[in-house]
Amino acid sequence: MTQIYPVLWFQDHALLIDQNRLPQEYTQIKISRSGEMAWAIKTMVVRGAPAIGVAAAYGLVLGAQEILRDHPPDRQIFLDHLRSIAEEIRSTRPTAVNLFWAVDKMLRAAHQSGVAVAHLPGILLEKAEEIRRQDLYTCQQIGAHGLAVLPATPHRLRLLTHCNAGALATAGYGTALGVVRSAWTEGRLERLYADETRPRLQGARLTAWECVQEGIPVTVITDSMAAHCMQQGLIDAVVVGADRIAANGDTANKIGTYNVALAAQAHGIPFFVAAPQSTLDLSLADGSGIPIEQRPPEEVSRLGEVSLTPAGVSFYNPAFDITPAALITGIITEHGTFKPQDLAAKFVLATSD
Ligand code: MRU
Repeated sequence: MTQIYPVLWFQDHALLIDQNRLPQEYTQIKISRSGEMAWAIKTMVVRGAPAIGVAAAYGLVLGAQEILRDHPPDRQIFLDHLRSIAEEIRSTRPTAVNLFWAVDKMLRAAHQSGVAVAHLPGILLEKAEEIRRQDLYTCQQIGAHGLAVLPATPHRLRLLTHCNAGALATAGYGTALGVVRSAWTEGRLERLYADETRPRLQGARLTAWECVQEGIPVTVITDSMAAHCMQQGLIDAVVVGADRIAANGDTANKIGTYNVALAAQAHGIPFFVAAPQSTLDLSLADGSGIPIEQRPPEEVSRLGEVSLTPAGVSFYNPAFDITPAALITGIITEHGTFKPQDLAAKFVLATSD
């Protein structure tokens, strides 16, 4: 199995796979300052909800190192500066709740630690490493639980996914693609259909690249072909990731996910969301409170250097949409698969470190 680690720590800096350059080029970028990490998250060098969380955690480790380089080792000064670095990192992308979850965990670790200030970067690095390792393990569990709920078919499964919820979007295994990976390893997968995922093409560029690395048969389709493929009997189940899941199970994921869920319901095809507990936001009763990131118009109006439209038109570019809980067959987590309406009761108490 090829190992893909989008975010790693090495000595005193982070290393990110530059996801904007895939699949043409596999390069790692060295990130040495918290501001650079904020930039990398905002510009989607690193993307995908859990991977953003891990990157944010390392961003705070970098921030902690900076504070001690630039200021006297005073606890109050340290915590004040760390909070403002946390704000900068929080302001990068609004939808994936894993970012806020990880930043909060890191701030708590700094506040609760009784060690001398000089040792706080080390404490924060341990915490960030724990977040990364835990996500790897969590995704493997999601993969195993997903396998148990995929439909029984006379032939091997044909799955459809949207965007990239793979190793690149997590610490290194994937949520939705973790389920696909498990199905493949167990000999239950015939083929993955990957929506290209306009406008940033995470499906065509990243999901397809990951599948090629693993030898998983993959067919890339444009987003508008998903319903047709279902109608043609080519799809047995849909598995997607999530950026934030509200208490009632309404789920924010990459723009276009809602269309896929509607089409799946119309064709009686099971539609699964695969996500770790860190993607749940039980503070929101339903999906209407989830902030939807608006991205620059150029992502829609241009393809590389080529303008796609005449001058004078306007653009709307929401990066995510909300799939209502009623369209979701099950939410696959590291603790098992739940009906959307059962999620809150299961997880309401499980918010500790
Ligand atoms: O804008 P992106 O590429 O960060 O959006 C990613 C997605 O929507 C993924 O499906 C989601 O984060 C789940 S990743 C395991």
